[in-house]
Amino acid sequence: MRDIRPFEVLFDHAEPSPIADEAYSPYGNFGFPSPPADRPWIYSNFVQSLDGITTLLGEHGSGGEISQSREDRWLMDLLRAHADAILMGMNTMLEEQRLRGPVSRGIVFQVADPLLRELRRKLGKGRERNIFVTRVVDLDLARLKAFDGDVVDAAIVTSPAGAARVRAQRSHPHVAVVAAGEGEAVDLPAAIRKLRGELGVEYLLCEGGPTLYGTLARADLIDEKFMTVSPVEVGQLVPPEQARIAGEPSTLLRPTVFGGPGFTRENMTRWTWLSCRKAGDHQFNRYRRKRA
Ligand SMILES: NC(=O)c1ccc[n+]([C@@H]2O[C@H](COP(=O)([O-])OP(=O)(O)OC[C@H]3O[C@@H](n4cnc5c(N)ncnc54)[C@H](OP(=O)(O)O)[C@@H]3O)[C@@H](O)[C@H]2O)c1
Repeated sequence: MRDIRPFEVLFDHAEPSPIADEAYSPYGNFGFPSPPADRPWIYSNFVQSLDGITTLLGEHGSGGEISQSREDRWLMDLLRAHADAILMGMNTMLEEQRLRGPVSRGIVFQVADPLLRELRRKLGKGRERNIFVTRVVDLDLARLKAFDGDVVDAAIVTSPAGAARVRAQRSHPHVAVVAAGEGEAVDLPAAIRKLRGELGVEYLLCEGGPTLYGTLARADLIDEKFMTVSPVEVGQLVPPEQARIAGEPSTLLRPTVFGGPGFTRENMTRWTWLSCRKAGDHQFNRYRRKRA
């Protein structure tokens, strides 16, 4: 997958790459600090339009429709190559499945570029792992390819009641279940600590979507944000001429990266701009959380 343009480095203040390897050459320097002792280091990856939108919704609802960049897809692989697991909200998976049609069993989120798969091996990373956050209300594991466990390991983060519903399905004993909270309520910070303690996840890549990201950000669990700005402007209100899919209301707002309630002036979070690259008209930013 080397049909990408090299990234132009505008500045980069991140740690050095963990090893010298040809696979880094399109991007240059790429390192992380050590993870905290009791939970993984969590970095997110999103692409947004110039006006801060992450999905058009409807028939073109995937993040790739905003991105439209081979370099952005490659960077996603670079980030995945360094992650012990990818964390996603269940809607991101179900949207990918919906967009592929009624007989689709969805996709597996994995490194596609052979050189980056090889880099992952050299970094000593184990099998790739997809972790889905869900309340398991009416989730049929057999409907989704990601839970087959043949290509990547799969895990579910849920409440104790959700965990009981997963285990009752019996068909997928290979899917790890991480439960935290009480009854139907998921305690996400406690679940994240268990990902470190029970599954050994030291570096966790959050690939969205906005609902999950907002929950993690409010709990101050995002350590870094990789943010691609795509040179398109789309607007927040879905225009009347865009076809609605079944059940969508006529007034519909496209989400930004951050779903759910936000912050006030007093508690909004602050970030250091760690690096910036350019490929064509796309901008590739990296921010690190500034904590007191
Ligand atoms: N531009 C980008 O980079 C990018 C990246 C990712 C996604 N997206 C887009 O974003 C859209 C999906 O985002 P979304 O915000 O609707 O969904 P999402 O965050 O992917 O998933 C939300 C679902 O995850 C589960 N969940 C999340 N936080 C939870 C918590 N604290 N406790 C319990 N369950 C929790 C729930 O699943 P259950 O309902 O199963 O309980 C919830 O309904 C898609 O259109 C996708 O294409 C864009």
